[in-house]
Amino acid sequence: MAMPAEASTNSTIVADYRARTPGSAALFERARELFPSGITHDTRYLDPYPLYVSRAKGSRKWCADGHDYVDYFGGHGALLLGHGHPAVIEAVQRQAAIGTHLGASHELEVRWAELVRRLVPCAEKVRFTSSGTEASHMVLRLARAFTGKLKIVRFIGHFHGWHDQVVAGSVSHYEGGVPVGVLPSIVDLSIVMPSDNVAPTVELLEQRDDIAAVILEPSGASWGQVPLPPGFIQALREVTARRGVLLVFDEVITGFRWSPGGAQAALGITPDLSILAKIVAGGLPGGAVAGRRDIMDLLDFAATRAAKREKVQHQGTYNANPLSAAAAIAALEIVATTDACGRANETTARLRDAMRQVLVEEGVPWGVYGDASAFHIFPNPGGLPVDPASFDPQKLGFKVLKGARDGALVGKLRMALMNEGVDIMPSPGGLVSSVHDGVDIDRTAEGLRRAVRALRAEREIRGG
Ligand SMILES: Cc1ncc(COP(=O)(O)O)c(C=O)c1O
Repeated sequence: MAMPAEASTNSTIVADYRARTPGSAALFERARELFPSGITHDTRYLDPYPLYVSRAKGSRKWCADGHDYVDYFGGHGALLLGHGHPAVIEAVQRQAAIGTHLGASHELEVRWAELVRRLVPCAEKVRFTSSGTEASHMVLRLARAFTGKLKIVRFIGHFHGWHDQVVAGSVSHYEGGVPVGVLPSIVDLSIVMPSDNVAPTVELLEQRDDIAAVILEPSGASWGQVPLPPGFIQALREVTARRGVLLVFDEVITGFRWSPGGAQAALGITPDLSILAKIVAGGLPGGAVAGRRDIMDLLDFAATRAAKREKVQHQGTYNANPLSAAAAIAALEIVATTDACGRANETTARLRDAMRQVLVEEGVPWGVYGDASAFHIFPNPGGLPVDPASFDPQKLGFKVLKGARDGALVGKLRMALMNEGVDIMPSPGGLVSSVHDGVDIDRTAEGLRRAVRALRAEREIRGG
């Protein structure tokens, strides 16, 4: 696994970060006694300690010491409309007062699913879950039940949550092997394929008869950090349809972001099933499986009885909980009726250009790239010859692009940017909302300029 390394103790960047954030340091001292590594999500790991954020609004958030940051975590991608959109707040507050869990079916879940069906092309029927991981678990169960086959094809580096079936090869064990604690027999049921060329997967699907489904991030691994070659998804759609294998899009990030109808609407390719989370629940916890009626009907009591098939089981205390449903309806109505998605995409294109321009002006051999409202930074830890003006991630391949996170460089880059009031994700990259604006872009670009200068002073910029 690409492990974030420890930041050096004699770094000015780290010293400045420590000086700006004593409130975060103090909270971390308490947290490290409570949580492994002091954190509650592996992605939030940062040496010497992560930033503690006390409030957020729009495109910004404020740390425990009161500094503000342009936020590119975006609630791990859940906040296409930015923090605290008034319509979402109003809907959640109204619902909190009249019932947080009704222990019953309710109107909001119906309106929520109607919106999902209106927006997402494959969504003939919908089932809500509490997270993307749960939706991923369910979709694979459905695929196996529907086809009567056991094997799942996944792609190296594509992330589908943290349950046992999808762990190997997603963030570690790229060369094979069983992640610690995971059942080897489950790992054996996945076939993890390369994503730089579709031919081996097409061949596999032509040859084998034991494959239930192919699941992928339609953006390419990690919301496009490792882009797919042109024609990849079209070829998968063609061969899966021909061979009776289900095609599943993981639209946990791309859903309602790549376009109002997700990557499937943007690409014009409809999968058999799709999983959704993050934006689908308006920034509150939630997820969904959506797809073909005949497959989803395996969850239906009457349909399975009539077909003399065993019903697929599904429970979950917080499925379609009213607070998430209220937030989701408010958010998805905005996605459906405004240009929120398009605005975020446009802002992000300008942001990527501005960051790229800084790299060119500063002579930094890195890359900035991405699709829709995502950006990725390739900080070139291996010191390859890279021209930021013409950077093409397709030329580098999986290992190099995923290796962007290796070593102490990314941690230092993040802290250098935080010192300038910008918070990016550790991939490194970020997700942008419909309310980020030109002021945010300017702060980010100038922050990046100062960050790369600080990194250069510490001999962290390699290659050229
Ligand atoms: C593409 C993708 N699939 C699935 C998941 C899992 O979703 P959750 O964190 O809601 O379990 C994530 C989470 O980041 C994701 O990015």
